[in-house]
Amino acid sequence: MDNVYHLDLNAKNIQGAKIALLPGDPFRSQVIAESISKVYETDNEKLAWKREFCTYLAEAHGQKILVTSTGIGGPSASIAIDELAQLGVHTFIRVGTTGAIQEFIDIGDVIITSGAVRLDGASTHYAPLEYPAVAHYEIINYLIEGAKNAGVKYHVGITASSDTFYQGEERDDSFRKYTLRKFQGITKELQALHVLNYEMEASTVLALTASMGLKGGCITGVINKRGMEKITEQYLTSGESNVIKAAIVSLTYLK
Ligand code: URA
Repeated sequence: MDNVYHLDLNAKNIQGAKIALLPGDPFRSQVIAESISKVYETDNEKLAWKREFCTYLAEAHGQKILVTSTGIGGPSASIAIDELAQLGVHTFIRVGTTGAIQEFIDIGDVIITSGAVRLDGASTHYAPLEYPAVAHYEIINYLIEGAKNAGVKYHVGITASSDTFYQGEERDDSFRKYTLRKFQGITKELQALHVLNYEMEASTVLALTASMGLKGGCITGVINKRGMEKITEQYLTSGESNVIKAAIVSLTYLK
């Protein structure tokens, strides 16, 4: 049986898994798999690690769950989704980290994305820009239940997905102290449009899954917010641990 090229997985070793959790960070795959094992009292195993794609197979409620890292940004996320879909996965949930841009959101809160502003390029290779990057309604509901039952404060709304962390998210601390005109003022405009947060993969995950007839969702933990740009170890731990808790409880509902 041939392995898919980038993920180095095949239909046999994923053992019929239909659901994939997608962190960005390859080191987070193991953390998530071990947390699933702890909560559901099941085993997990590492299946592959090639480039940024690290995959574990875990189990929750008698269902096989893949945890595959996407790396940062749309291009590598599109590879992970395309290859997992080739192997029969139908549900894709990004479990990541994010920067909030609304005042009422705090570090450690989680954001459940209902739809994403497509500031990326990769998703346009799968569906034209007019196509909405929306989460599957069932997944949104499951993630809400997961956050509620995990006791994690959550917000549901629109996310902006950028191709770049510095320029595209209008960061003053970019090495180049100049921001392209097209990004100057973008944060203020997104805030006025009630966008909740910036991250870098949701639009790819949601546009690809919706347009290919698959189910997609995105939940992210807040690790910084506008005006508090420095990502400290404490902020990272708080955003990461809460998003993992909520995502794992939501597995109770997923089929
Ligand atoms: N990821 C992003 O893309 N931006 C942030 O501010 C934090 C995480």
